[in-house]
Amino acid sequence: MSSYSIGILVGSLRKQSLNRKLANALIALAPDSLKLEIVEIGQLPHCNADDEASPPQVIGDFKRRIESLDGILFVTPEYNRGIPGFLKNAIDIASRPYGKNSWSGKPTGVVSVSPGALGAFGANHQLRQSFVFLDMPAMQQPEAYIGNAASIFDDRGRISSEPTRAFVVQYLNSFAQWVAKHASTNAA
Ligand code: FNR
Repeated sequence: MSSYSIGILVGSLRKQSLNRKLANALIALAPDSLKLEIVEIGQLPHCNADDEASPPQVIGDFKRRIESLDGILFVTPEYNRGIPGFLKNAIDIASRPYGKNSWSGKPTGVVSVSPGALGAFGANHQLRQSFVFLDMPAMQQPEAYIGNAASIFDDRGRISSEPTRAFVVQYLNSFAQWVAKHASTNAA
């Protein structure tokens, strides 16, 4: 069976982030065909097109890391009904210079996480708008809006809510199929 390297971008820098807990739960529950790893983005400078001719090493390193992956999972909170600014910044940085978009063709999925009831729906869908221009095939179903997230983890950060845990496993299995489908397209 093929194994695919998947980068998880987490849209929170908080130490006690619910999104990071969910990302770690995804890593723990992933099927054998997916190797999931968080790709850190908090170290990236602000996107500035003036840097494109001679980018700092941190940008080149980030672009190469994204290009080395078979797929991307975004795990994000919602800030004012949109995605956190530094997550958009990471997306913008690796999309440039024009014609050298590191995200192109990478199969992707979105898990949005909020302590509120709406499960960060607005952020989830704002991300999907960018996938169109980035040329990232985005899994449509199942959708993942994890609401009331402050109550789904135990004190060791594992998902204690059985329905949520079962849903996350189902989501990961669907994502594994999505990645395999697009990996074969990319290889063709
Ligand atoms: C929020 N929060 C929030 N929640 C939500 O469901 N919809 C929203 O629009 C917002 N807006 C918002 C703006 C800003 C600036 C902050 C800091 C927070 C609350 C947010 O969901 C909550 O802080 C989460 O716990 C953030 O995710 P992490 O850091 O726990 O992963």
